[in-house]
Amino acid sequence: MTINLTGRDALRDALHGTTMQDYLAWQMSEIRQQVGDKKVLLGLSGGVDSSVCAALLTRALPGQLTCVFVDHGLMRQHEGDEIEAAFAGQALTLIRVNAQARFLAKLAGVVDPEQKRKLIGEEFIHVFDEESAKLGTIPFLAQGTIYPDIAESGSDGSEVIKSHHNVGGLPEDMQFALVEPLKWLYKEEVRELGRLLGLPAALVNRQPFPGPGLGVRVIGEITQEKLELLRAADAILRAGLDTLPAESRPSQYFAVHTGVNSVGLKGEQRVYGPVIALRAVVTGDFMTAACAPLPLELFGRIAQRIAVEIPAISRVVLDITPKPPGTIEWE
Ligand code: XMP
Repeated sequence: MTINLTGRDALRDALHGTTMQDYLAWQMSEIRQQVGDKKVLLGLSGGVDSSVCAALLTRALPGQLTCVFVDHGLMRQHEGDEIEAAFAGQALTLIRVNAQARFLAKLAGVVDPEQKRKLIGEEFIHVFDEESAKLGTIPFLAQGTIYPDIAESGSDGSEVIKSHHNVGGLPEDMQFALVEPLKWLYKEEVRELGRLLGLPAALVNRQPFPGPGLGVRVIGEITQEKLELLRAADAILRAGLDTLPAESRPSQYFAVHTGVNSVGLKGEQRVYGPVIALRAVVTGDFMTAACAPLPLELFGRIAQRIAVEIPAISRVVLDITPKPPGTIEWE
Protein backbone atom coordinates (compact mmCIF):
# COMPACT_ATOMS: atom_id res chain seq x y z
CA MET A 1 0.00 0.00 0.00
CA THR A 2 1.37 3.44 -0.83
CA ILE A 3 1.93 5.63 2.14
CA ASN A 4 0.30 8.96 1.50
CA LEU A 5 0.52 11.40 4.33
CA THR A 6 0.40 14.45 2.09
CA GLY A 7 -3.38 14.59 2.00
CA ARG A 8 -3.58 14.23 5.73
CA ASP A 9 -0.97 16.88 6.38
CA ALA A 10 -2.74 19.25 4.02
CA LEU A 11 -6.00 18.66 5.85
CA ARG A 12 -4.29 19.23 9.19
CA ASP A 13 -2.96 22.52 7.87
CA ALA A 14 -6.44 23.42 6.70
CA LEU A 15 -7.76 22.72 10.19
CA HIS A 16 -5.29 25.23 11.61
CA GLY A 17 -7.19 28.26 12.83
CA THR A 18 -10.56 26.56 12.90
CA THR A 19 -12.17 26.24 16.31
CA MET A 20 -12.94 23.02 18.13
CA GLN A 21 -16.59 23.88 17.76
CA ASP A 22 -16.06 23.87 13.96
CA TYR A 23 -14.31 20.51 14.19
CA LEU A 24 -17.16 19.09 16.22
CA ALA A 25 -19.77 20.26 13.72
CA TRP A 26 -17.70 18.95 10.77
CA GLN A 27 -17.18 15.51 12.35
CA MET A 28 -20.80 15.19 13.44
CA SER A 29 -21.87 15.61 9.84
CA GLU A 30 -19.11 13.29 8.53
CA ILE A 31 -20.05 10.57 11.01
CA ARG A 32 -23.75 10.83 10.20
CA GLN A 33 -23.01 10.63 6.51
CA GLN A 34 -20.75 7.59 6.92
CA VAL A 35 -22.86 5.60 9.37
CA GLY A 36 -26.43 6.60 8.53
CA ASP A 37 -28.81 4.73 10.81
CA LYS A 38 -26.54 1.69 11.35
CA LYS A 39 -24.97 0.60 14.62
CA VAL A 40 -21.39 1.28 15.76
CA LEU A 41 -19.19 -0.70 18.16
CA LEU A 42 -16.40 0.82 20.24
CA GLY A 43 -13.89 -0.71 22.65
CA LEU A 44 -13.92 1.69 25.59
CA SER A 45 -10.82 1.59 27.79
CA GLY A 46 -11.47 4.71 29.83
CA GLY A 47 -8.44 6.36 28.23
CA VAL A 48 -8.78 9.88 26.83
CA ASP A 49 -9.03 8.87 23.17
CA SER A 50 -11.66 6.14 23.44
CA SER A 51 -13.69 8.20 25.93
CA VAL A 52 -13.77 11.29 23.71
CA CYS A 53 -14.57 9.09 20.74
CA ALA A 54 -17.53 7.60 22.64
CA ALA A 55 -18.81 11.04 23.65
CA LEU A 56 -18.53 12.38 20.09
CA LEU A 57 -20.30 9.37 18.55
CA THR A 58 -23.07 9.57 21.12
CA ARG A 59 -23.58 13.24 20.27
CA ALA A 60 -23.66 12.49 16.54
CA LEU A 61 -25.61 9.24 16.67
CA PRO A 62 -27.67 9.04 19.85
CA GLY A 63 -28.68 5.45 20.55
CA GLN A 64 -26.56 3.88 17.81
CA LEU A 65 -23.33 3.27 19.75
CA THR A 66 -22.49 0.18 21.78
CA CYS A 67 -19.35 0.39 23.90
CA VAL A 68 -17.66 -2.70 25.24
CA PHE A 69 -15.54 -2.02 28.30
CA VAL A 70 -13.48 -5.04 29.25
CA ASP A 71 -12.64 -4.78 32.94
CA HIS A 72 -9.57 -6.98 33.20
CA GLY A 73 -9.18 -6.32 36.91
CA LEU A 74 -5.91 -4.51 36.29
CA MET A 75 -7.36 -1.02 36.65
CA ARG A 76 -6.56 1.45 39.39
CA GLN A 77 -8.74 2.03 42.45
CA HIS A 78 -12.42 2.64 41.55
CA GLU A 79 -11.43 3.20 37.91
CA GLY A 80 -13.90 0.76 36.40
CA ASP A 81 -16.77 2.35 38.32
CA GLU A 82 -15.62 5.84 37.33
CA ILE A 83 -15.64 4.93 33.66
CA GLU A 84 -19.10 3.43 33.98
CA ALA A 85 -20.37 6.48 35.88
CA ALA A 86 -18.98 8.90 33.28
CA PHE A 87 -21.20 7.36 30.61
CA ALA A 88 -24.23 6.48 32.71
CA GLY A 89 -27.42 8.11 31.47
CA GLN A 90 -25.93 8.88 28.03
CA ALA A 91 -27.62 7.76 24.80
CA LEU A 92 -25.34 4.75 24.30
CA THR A 93 -25.24 1.12 25.34
CA LEU A 94 -22.33 0.38 27.66
CA ILE A 95 -21.45 -3.23 28.26
CA ARG A 96 -19.01 -3.71 31.10
CA VAL A 97 -17.51 -7.15 30.99
CA ASN A 98 -16.33 -8.17 34.41
CA ALA A 99 -13.52 -10.44 33.32
CA GLN A 100 -11.29 -10.01 36.38
CA ALA A 101 -11.36 -13.67 37.43
CA ARG A 102 -10.70 -14.82 33.90
CA PHE A 103 -7.58 -12.67 33.57
CA LEU A 104 -6.26 -13.69 36.99
CA ALA A 105 -6.71 -17.36 36.10
CA LYS A 106 -4.73 -16.88 32.87
CA LEU A 107 -1.98 -15.04 34.70
CA ALA A 108 -1.61 -17.50 37.58
CA GLY A 109 2.01 -18.55 37.98
CA VAL A 110 3.28 -16.31 35.16
CA VAL A 111 6.29 -14.16 36.08
CA ASP A 112 7.91 -13.26 32.76
CA PRO A 113 6.97 -9.65 31.81
CA GLU A 114 6.64 -10.31 28.09
CA GLN A 115 4.57 -13.40 28.71
CA LYS A 116 2.28 -11.42 31.01
CA ARG A 117 1.76 -8.69 28.38
CA LYS A 118 1.09 -11.30 25.72
CA LEU A 119 -1.45 -13.19 27.82
CA ILE A 120 -3.27 -10.01 28.82
CA GLY A 121 -3.41 -8.90 25.18
CA GLU A 122 -4.68 -12.25 23.94
CA GLU A 123 -7.27 -12.56 26.66
CA PHE A 124 -8.46 -9.04 25.99
CA ILE A 125 -9.07 -9.86 22.35
CA HIS A 126 -10.88 -13.10 23.24
CA VAL A 127 -13.23 -11.30 25.61
CA PHE A 128 -13.87 -8.44 23.18
CA ASP A 129 -14.44 -10.86 20.35
CA GLU A 130 -16.90 -12.96 22.38
CA GLU A 131 -18.86 -9.91 23.45
CA SER A 132 -19.08 -8.44 19.97
CA ALA A 133 -20.20 -11.82 18.58
CA LYS A 134 -23.10 -11.79 21.08
CA LEU A 135 -24.24 -8.44 19.68
CA GLY A 136 -24.95 -9.76 16.20
CA THR A 137 -23.82 -7.92 13.13
CA ILE A 138 -22.59 -4.41 13.75
CA PRO A 139 -21.16 -2.96 10.57
CA PHE A 140 -19.01 -0.17 12.04
CA LEU A 141 -16.12 -0.22 14.49
CA ALA A 142 -15.08 3.13 15.97
CA GLN A 143 -11.56 3.72 17.17
CA GLY A 144 -9.94 6.58 19.04
CA THR A 145 -7.05 6.78 16.60
CA ILE A 146 -5.41 10.21 16.81
CA TYR A 147 -3.14 12.03 14.37
CA PRO A 148 0.19 11.01 15.97
CA ASP A 149 -0.88 7.33 15.85
CA ILE A 150 -1.10 7.60 12.09
CA ALA A 151 1.91 9.82 11.56
CA GLU A 152 4.11 7.68 13.87
CA SER A 153 3.04 4.33 12.52
CA GLY A 154 3.94 5.56 9.02
CA SER A 155 0.89 3.89 7.58
CA ASP A 156 -2.27 5.24 6.13
CA GLY A 157 -4.06 4.11 9.28
CA SER A 158 -7.52 3.93 7.81
CA GLU A 159 -7.01 0.35 6.73
CA VAL A 160 -5.17 -0.86 9.79
CA ILE A 161 -7.11 -1.74 12.89
CA LYS A 162 -5.15 -0.09 15.65
CA SER A 163 -3.93 -2.67 18.08
CA HIS A 164 -6.23 -2.47 21.01
CA HIS A 165 -4.50 -0.29 23.64
CA ASN A 166 -1.28 -1.88 22.37
CA VAL A 167 -2.39 -5.18 23.76
CA GLY A 168 -2.77 -7.13 20.58
CA GLY A 169 -4.97 -6.72 17.55
CA LEU A 170 -8.51 -7.53 16.66
CA PRO A 171 -8.97 -10.79 14.76
CA GLU A 172 -8.34 -10.41 11.06
CA ASP A 173 -11.64 -11.97 10.09
CA MET A 174 -13.67 -9.25 11.78
CA GLN A 175 -15.49 -7.38 9.04
CA PHE A 176 -15.97 -3.82 10.14
CA ALA A 177 -15.79 -0.47 8.45
CA LEU A 178 -13.75 1.86 10.64
CA VAL A 179 -14.96 5.16 12.05
CA GLU A 180 -12.08 7.29 13.30
CA PRO A 181 -13.36 10.77 14.07
CA LEU A 182 -10.29 11.91 16.04
CA LYS A 183 -7.69 11.07 13.45
CA TRP A 184 -6.92 14.70 12.62
CA LEU A 185 -6.31 15.76 16.21
CA TYR A 186 -3.30 15.95 18.50
CA LYS A 187 -3.68 14.78 22.09
CA GLU A 188 -4.25 18.24 23.54
CA GLU A 189 -6.93 18.90 20.92
CA VAL A 190 -8.63 15.62 21.84
CA ARG A 191 -8.74 16.81 25.45
CA GLU A 192 -10.22 20.14 24.32
CA LEU A 193 -12.89 18.31 22.35
CA GLY A 194 -13.62 16.13 25.38
CA ARG A 195 -14.15 19.25 27.50
CA LEU A 196 -16.42 20.69 24.84
CA LEU A 197 -18.45 17.47 24.92
CA GLY A 198 -18.79 17.78 28.68
CA LEU A 199 -16.66 14.83 29.79
CA PRO A 200 -15.50 14.96 33.43
CA ALA A 201 -12.07 16.55 34.03
CA ALA A 202 -10.74 13.32 35.58
CA LEU A 203 -11.27 11.50 32.27
CA VAL A 204 -10.14 14.30 29.99
CA ASN A 205 -6.92 14.95 31.93
CA ARG A 206 -6.16 11.31 32.59
CA GLN A 207 -2.48 10.34 32.62
CA PRO A 208 -1.29 7.73 30.15
CA PHE A 209 -2.12 4.29 31.51
CA PRO A 210 -0.72 1.18 29.84
CA GLY A 211 -3.09 -1.27 28.15
CA PRO A 212 -1.89 -4.15 30.37
CA GLY A 213 -2.67 -1.87 33.32
CA LEU A 214 -1.37 -2.80 36.74
CA GLY A 215 -0.16 -6.03 35.16
CA VAL A 216 3.09 -4.23 34.31
CA ARG A 217 3.28 -2.67 37.77
CA VAL A 218 3.17 -5.90 39.77
CA ILE A 219 6.56 -7.54 39.54
CA GLY A 220 6.46 -11.34 39.52
CA GLU A 221 3.24 -13.26 39.65
CA ILE A 222 0.04 -11.17 39.57
CA THR A 223 -2.29 -12.05 42.43
CA GLN A 224 -5.46 -10.49 43.79
CA GLU A 225 -3.68 -9.71 47.06
CA LYS A 226 -0.80 -7.88 45.36
CA LEU A 227 -3.24 -5.94 43.17
CA GLU A 228 -5.23 -4.80 46.17
CA LEU A 229 -2.15 -3.57 48.03
CA LEU A 230 -0.90 -1.81 44.94
CA ARG A 231 -4.24 -0.13 44.29
CA ALA A 232 -4.36 1.17 47.86
CA ALA A 233 -0.77 2.52 47.71
CA ASP A 234 -1.27 4.01 44.26
CA ALA A 235 -4.42 5.81 45.41
CA ILE A 236 -2.48 7.41 48.28
CA LEU A 237 0.31 8.54 45.96
CA ARG A 238 -2.15 10.02 43.48
CA ALA A 239 -4.14 11.77 46.19
CA GLY A 240 -0.87 13.31 47.44
CA LEU A 241 0.25 14.62 44.04
CA ASP A 242 -3.18 15.52 42.70
CA THR A 243 -3.30 18.38 45.21
CA LEU A 244 -0.33 20.10 43.52
CA PRO A 245 -1.13 22.95 41.15
CA ALA A 246 -1.47 21.63 37.58
CA GLU A 247 1.80 23.24 36.42
CA SER A 248 3.94 21.47 39.04
CA ARG A 249 2.22 18.09 38.78
CA PRO A 250 4.44 15.39 37.21
CA SER A 251 3.53 14.05 33.76
CA GLN A 252 2.90 10.55 35.10
CA TYR A 253 2.93 9.11 38.61
CA PHE A 254 2.10 5.72 39.99
CA ALA A 255 3.09 3.03 42.48
CA VAL A 256 4.72 -0.32 41.73
CA HIS A 257 4.49 -3.55 43.71
CA THR A 258 8.13 -4.64 43.61
CA GLY A 259 7.46 -8.25 44.57
CA VAL A 260 10.28 -7.95 47.15
CA ASN A 261 9.64 -8.30 50.88
CA SER A 262 11.42 -6.38 53.59
CA VAL A 263 11.30 -6.00 57.35
CA GLY A 264 9.47 -3.16 59.04
CA LEU A 265 8.35 -2.27 62.53
CA LYS A 266 4.77 -1.20 63.13
CA GLY A 267 4.14 -0.30 66.75
CA GLU A 268 5.68 -3.21 68.59
CA GLN A 269 5.06 -5.53 65.67
CA ARG A 270 7.69 -6.72 63.25
CA VAL A 271 6.24 -7.02 59.77
CA TYR A 272 7.77 -8.75 56.81
CA GLY A 273 5.91 -7.45 53.81
CA PRO A 274 6.10 -6.03 50.31
CA VAL A 275 8.16 -3.03 49.24
CA ILE A 276 6.27 -0.44 47.21
CA ALA A 277 8.12 1.82 44.77
CA LEU A 278 6.91 5.28 43.79
CA ARG A 279 7.51 6.55 40.26
CA ALA A 280 6.84 10.18 39.33
CA VAL A 281 8.30 11.51 36.10
CA VAL A 282 8.35 14.67 34.05
CA THR A 283 8.47 14.27 30.31
CA GLY A 284 7.36 15.95 27.11
CA ASP A 285 7.08 12.99 24.79
CA PHE A 286 7.42 9.95 27.10
CA MET A 287 10.49 8.89 25.07
CA THR A 288 12.78 10.51 27.63
CA ALA A 289 11.84 11.31 31.19
CA ALA A 290 13.32 12.46 34.50
CA CYS A 291 12.32 11.92 38.08
CA ALA A 292 9.93 14.72 39.02
CA PRO A 293 11.85 17.43 40.93
CA LEU A 294 9.50 17.53 43.89
CA PRO A 295 10.55 18.00 47.52
CA LEU A 296 11.66 14.73 49.14
CA GLU A 297 9.66 15.80 52.13
CA LEU A 298 6.47 15.45 50.03
CA PHE A 299 7.42 11.90 49.03
CA GLY A 300 8.28 11.25 52.70
CA ARG A 301 4.76 12.21 53.76
CA ILE A 302 3.25 9.96 51.09
CA ALA A 303 5.53 7.06 52.10
CA GLN A 304 4.52 7.55 55.71
CA ARG A 305 0.82 7.42 54.83
CA ILE A 306 1.25 4.28 52.71
CA ALA A 307 3.24 2.41 55.35
CA VAL A 308 0.96 3.44 58.19
CA GLU A 309 -2.41 3.02 56.47
CA ILE A 310 -1.67 -0.26 54.70
CA PRO A 311 -0.71 -2.73 57.42
CA ALA A 312 0.99 -5.29 55.16
CA ILE A 313 3.39 -2.85 53.49
CA SER A 314 6.78 -2.64 55.16
CA ARG A 315 8.66 -0.09 53.11
CA VAL A 316 8.33 2.53 50.38
CA VAL A 317 11.15 3.50 48.01
CA LEU A 318 11.42 6.21 45.35
CA ASP A 319 12.52 5.37 41.81
CA ILE A 320 14.77 8.21 40.61
CA THR A 321 16.01 6.54 37.41
CA PRO A 322 15.94 8.74 34.30
CA LYS A 323 14.69 7.40 30.98
CA PRO A 324 16.85 6.34 29.26
CA PRO A 325 18.18 4.04 30.52
CA GLY A 326 15.20 3.18 32.73
CA THR A 327 11.78 2.83 31.15
CA ILE A 328 8.88 4.63 32.83
CA GLU A 329 7.02 1.40 33.60
CA TRP A 330 8.87 -1.31 35.52
CA GLU A 331 7.95 -4.10 33.15
P1 XMP B 1 7.91 3.06 28.95
O1 XMP B 1 7.67 2.14 30.10
O2 XMP B 1 8.18 2.34 27.67
O3 XMP B 1 6.54 3.82 28.73
O4 XMP B 1 8.97 4.09 29.24
C1 XMP B 1 6.35 4.97 27.95
C2 XMP B 1 4.90 5.39 28.05
O5 XMP B 1 4.07 4.39 27.45
C3 XMP B 1 3.17 3.84 28.40
N1 XMP B 1 3.10 2.40 28.16
C4 XMP B 1 2.08 1.80 27.52
N2 XMP B 1 0.96 2.30 26.99
N3 XMP B 1 0.31 0.13 26.36
C5 XMP B 1 0.07 1.46 26.41
O6 XMP B 1 -0.97 1.90 25.93
C6 XMP B 1 1.42 -0.46 26.86
O7 XMP B 1 1.61 -1.66 26.78
C7 XMP B 1 2.36 0.44 27.47
N4 XMP B 1 3.55 0.24 28.07
C8 XMP B 1 3.98 1.46 28.47
C9 XMP B 1 3.77 4.17 29.76
O8 XMP B 1 2.80 4.20 30.78
C10 XMP B 1 4.41 5.51 29.48
O9 XMP B 1 3.47 6.54 29.53
